[in-house]
Amino acid sequence: MEALTSTIQEQTRLRWDDNVWKHLPKRWGHSFHPMCSYLAMFPPGIPRYFIEQFTEPGDVVLDPFSGRGTAPLEACVSGRIGIGIDLSPLAHILTAAKVDPPRFDSVIKRINELRASYKRPNIDGVPDDIKMLFDGRLTLPRIVYLRNELSHRKRVDRFLLASLAGILHGGYNDAMNDSSYLSISMPNTFSMAPNYIRRYVRKNHLHKLPLDVFEKLTAKVQRLFKNGMPSTRGYAYRANARNFSSLQNPEFKTSNVKLIITSPPYLKVVNYGTYNWIRLWLLGESIEKTNKKLLLDDKHGINSYENFLGDVLNQCERVLRPDGVCALVIGDVEEQNKNAQRKSYNLSEGVWNHLKQKTKLNFLTLIEDSLPEENKVTRIWGKTQGNATKTDRILLLYKDKLPHPRYPFSAQKVISKLLV
Ligand SMILES: C[S@@+](CC[C@H](N)C(=O)[O-])C[C@H]1O[C@@H](n2cnc3c(N)ncnc32)[C@H](O)[C@@H]1O
Repeated sequence: MEALTSTIQEQTRLRWDDNVWKHLPKRWGHSFHPMCSYLAMFPPGIPRYFIEQFTEPGDVVLDPFSGRGTAPLEACVSGRIGIGIDLSPLAHILTAAKVDPPRFDSVIKRINELRASYKRPNIDGVPDDIKMLFDGRLTLPRIVYLRNELSHRKRVDRFLLASLAGILHGGYNDAMNDSSYLSISMPNTFSMAPNYIRRYVRKNHLHKLPLDVFEKLTAKVQRLFKNGMPSTRGYAYRANARNFSSLQNPEFKTSNVKLIITSPPYLKVVNYGTYNWIRLWLLGESIEKTNKKLLLDDKHGINSYENFLGDVLNQCERVLRPDGVCALVIGDVEEQNKNAQRKSYNLSEGVWNHLKQKTKLNFLTLIEDSLPEENKVTRIWGKTQGNATKTDRILLLYKDKLPHPRYPFSAQKVISKLLV
């Protein structure tokens, strides 16, 4: 058994060391992926690598920290059933829009209906922090109208809300005096703090472009549907990863998940509420509540983080098939000692050492993935990037039966398959 484990470790490691996803073009993947930027997202090639190696079409793939839905979308695009779970309302709406999308023509029809019945709403009650971002004559009233009209429960409306969140703020082209984003020129990836924006606007004399929101939304939807619909439908839940196995999903009841591929919240790195405050306003969600809920699993010390992941692994073990695989992408973290020296801590190894006595899942291998600095979303914070480091590791576990990669020792096969 030990010899077999190490052979499979070797096969998987070899494939990984070829850095399959790094051979893919920068914007590789289905046109739904760039629906909306999201902090700490992984490139679609990472989940796709594990999907190709460890699942067949029709299998179930789960991400219990789905973020913007990268892994479940890759599952649906490749004919598997993708399930995404996340506690953040923004992450939930993005995942739902991707794994359970409406048809293109019904989205366009809905935009046209909304445009036809547009009546300028009263925007007096809109917070000043939001008013400072958008032109008040044309742009903001239309955003407020859509915010009031779009229902979170309807498939087509959810897709529109997610698409609108994607164009809500970002940089514009000064030379063209136009933008695909609706706000003053600012980053698209995350929301800067209101006071910072106020100073920034004054200093740089930024102006607010009057934009036809319906037109910008139509253009966004057209870009998103460039690759058509994913081939299968999946599921999205707004739920806590600590107890997701009780969700009413047939694949959980029958322990039918073949692959779990996920990146848990980083240790003390991202405050998902604060950094998304503009998009949360669009969704009618409270920033404080989102922070509080996600704080739980974002602000742990190392010990409680390990306990948190222990609870999550317990849930994973319940829903996996006997031949199921679980891949956890976990970044190293920086620690500061008493003399203010910083050193890197291999969190995934720490997590495994802490949990191996407590989980029934078995260790397959630990794979290292050094990220070039420019590829990390947290680079935008420069020195204040917190505890994020340049090295991600993938802790690969299995349930009962040793899994066999479908393409052992053959990076080229997967790459050429993905480039078709
Ligand atoms: C590193 S991000 C995942 C990003 C994702 N891989 C992507 O590509 O977009 C971690 C996610 O965990 C979510 N999260 C934090 N605590 C959670 C909890 N207890 N249950 C479910 N989701 C949680 C955050 O909202 C965040 O979206």
